[in-house]
Amino acid sequence: MQMEIFNLDGRTALVTGGGRGIGRAMAVGLAEAGADIVLLLVAFDSPNNRDLSQTETKEQIEKLGRKCFTYACNLELKDSVSRVIQEVLSSHEIHILLNAAGIQRRLSAENYDQETYEEVMQVNLGAAFTLCREIGKYWIKNGIKGSLINTASLASFQGGVRMSGYAVSKGGIAMLTKALSNEWATHGIRVNAIAPGYIATDMNVDTRTSPDKTYYKSITDRIPMGRWGDPEEFKGIVVFLASKASSYITGEIITVDGGWLAR
Ligand code: NAI
Repeated sequence: MQMEIFNLDGRTALVTGGGRGIGRAMAVGLAEAGADIVLLLVAFDSPNNRDLSQTETKEQIEKLGRKCFTYACNLELKDSVSRVIQEVLSSHEIHILLNAAGIQRRLSAENYDQETYEEVMQVNLGAAFTLCREIGKYWIKNGIKGSLINTASLASFQGGVRMSGYAVSKGGIAMLTKALSNEWATHGIRVNAIAPGYIATDMNVDTRTSPDKTYYKSITDRIPMGRWGDPEEFKGIVVFLASKASSYITGEIITVDGGWLAR
């Protein structure tokens, strides 16, 4: 039985990164709680984004009896982001923004070239900033008390190794979340972030399947719960943050990490 405070009937969520992994599970979770979903999907073939056909999320959402709309958007391209926001807002009333898209590029700091740094910063932080600003502006103008949810990381708290650009972007997501919360709380807009620990997705398939298990084992051994997380384990937190269940929570970065950060 669905508890009323978690109910998202009549709400519509705009979601990035919903094509697979954590973003897909969260989009489906929001739909399970009653929300309709607008997905911003990328359809390009770069070596680290292996998902060219992202129809599965839409199918899962529609099976639940919810509506799902898809728009093409490459978050790497600033014009693509600005254009799609206007397109979406001209056809949908949005109540929830979930920024889940992200990319990881593993390079030593001295070899982290400018192009890669800028790509990571734009997809992980720049596009999220633009989406937050435009949706926040629209909510203020229309008196909508929306819930904005960003996706942070353990790298929002710890610098990591061989991921300097990623750590800068995710540190930025934490501060973006707090800064927007400070400015928009008076409008009834809540801004929070979810910080995943080590979650088994395409993003880290190389680490998990490498024949040399040393690195994988060192991580797994450090997780107090002794295992990597599953994308399905993000449904609860995202529904909580999107719904009335968290009506007095804003400016928070909530870790979902099997205890990693406490250790
Ligand atoms: P994933 O690689 O499976 O999914 C990332 C999604 O972002 C994909 O749907 C992809 O199409 C989308 N995306 C990437 N570049 C894009 C672009 N240029 N334009 C539009 N969409 C684009 O990754 P995963 O693991 O599901 O990650 C989801 C979020 O969680 C990311 O923000 C990631 O940084 C974060 N995260 C993941 C962790 C993990 O262990 N998997 C740990 C900490 C944070």
